[in-house]
Amino acid sequence: MSSGVHSDSVQKHKDFLFPAVAMYYQEPIALERGEGMYVWDENGNKYLDCFGGVLTTSVGHVHPRVTEAIIDQVQKLNHASTLYANGPQSRLAAKLAEIAPGNLEKSFFTNSGTEADETATMAAKLYTGRQEIITLRHSYSGRSAAALTAAGQSSWKILPSQVPGYHHGLAPYCYRCPLKLTYPECGVACAKDLKELIETATTGQIAAFMAEPIAGAGGFIVPPKEYFKEAVAIVRQYGGVFICDEVQTGWGRTGDKWFGIEHWDVEPDIITSAKGMANGSPIGWTIARKEIADAVPTLSFSTFGGNPVTTRAAMATIEVIEQENLAHNAKVVGDYLREKLMGLQERYEVIGDVRGMGLMQGMEFVKDRKTKEPAPATVSKVFEETRKRGVLIGKGGLYGNVIRIGPPLVATKDNMDELVTALDDALATV
Ligand SMILES: Cc1ncc(COP(=O)(O)O)c(C=O)c1O
Repeated sequence: MSSGVHSDSVQKHKDFLFPAVAMYYQEPIALERGEGMYVWDENGNKYLDCFGGVLTTSVGHVHPRVTEAIIDQVQKLNHASTLYANGPQSRLAAKLAEIAPGNLEKSFFTNSGTEADETATMAAKLYTGRQEIITLRHSYSGRSAAALTAAGQSSWKILPSQVPGYHHGLAPYCYRCPLKLTYPECGVACAKDLKELIETATTGQIAAFMAEPIAGAGGFIVPPKEYFKEAVAIVRQYGGVFICDEVQTGWGRTGDKWFGIEHWDVEPDIITSAKGMANGSPIGWTIARKEIADAVPTLSFSTFGGNPVTTRAAMATIEVIEQENLAHNAKVVGDYLREKLMGLQERYEVIGDVRGMGLMQGMEFVKDRKTKEPAPATVSKVFEETRKRGVLIGKGGLYGNVIRIGPPLVATKDNMDELVTALDDALATV
């Protein structure tokens, strides 16, 4: 299957967009339409979409209920700005206060995950009266100056740190333990190290700890189940609040729960999200405990924040997830996929680790299982080969050696069989 190279859209993309707007594949794909689990490119080629535009089309491409909500709202009111109340924004905020864990009550809507994280750190600083933020190595939070500073991956840091006060804790990355220990004998020492980090690298007066339940761009790194309880207890002991970045892990993605952090029995003080929240309409969301939200002065404006069209899309997406029981589907189909990937790992030495939760599953590729030397070139080849077989997947990780699978939550076991067959055939060719 060949595409992109003769596409006028790809050519104009190359000619008129910043080269930094990088595209996947040697012959980039220009997508033209989508339906459910499938997308078509401009040359009519059909692909099974197992990455969902980076875990974003959560209920499948062009879901009729979401589309109807958008069309209905566009015909009524397209824009309001945050200076006026609008029904879709208010109703969505009330719904989110109902489904968010713990005492999270007040929302601020923006346009992206980057802004959601910015809003959260700003609120944490104002609430605590402190300036320092702890994030994790291998994390990702977006592309603003603060978000790039917060990121824990050199590949995303196109500029050196621009914002003071960020410190990076050890990632709970068991496959490549930064302390060279083994779980569970390690006693989750990576979490305990936060105490040392706070006492040695900060003023001891931290505003917040911001972390993803599963490091997404970092390569779907799943922490040990005790990690967040330990880490958040230390952070709170030093007066910081816990910002949980659910940009990738929210909306049922990890299976059976709305949010990834709910698997570990820890209540965040702030949650941020974006991506899958509105099935592809641009939205950023920050929800906080009332006292934290109240600490942000009244003048903070967002032109497109809480836009009635995108908030209708978000509400429709959330209703579809509820009514079609998609968080449970993510658990059932995710477990099924996981077993199949483990089967591939048994047959292909190059697959060093299989990890993930629900419909967020990754495979880390290595040249040698003992040395764990990353194998990004093999990932690139598998990537090209699966595309030839009509299947789209993602990649990531600090070394670019992790295949990331994050299909829409409507994925079926048959879809996963199709994916695994393509992966198997692709692996056989490399
Ligand atoms: C965990 C996490 N936080 C924040 C962001 C930034 O979101 P956006 O690209 O919508 O600004 C991303 C984007 O991939 C992300 O994965």
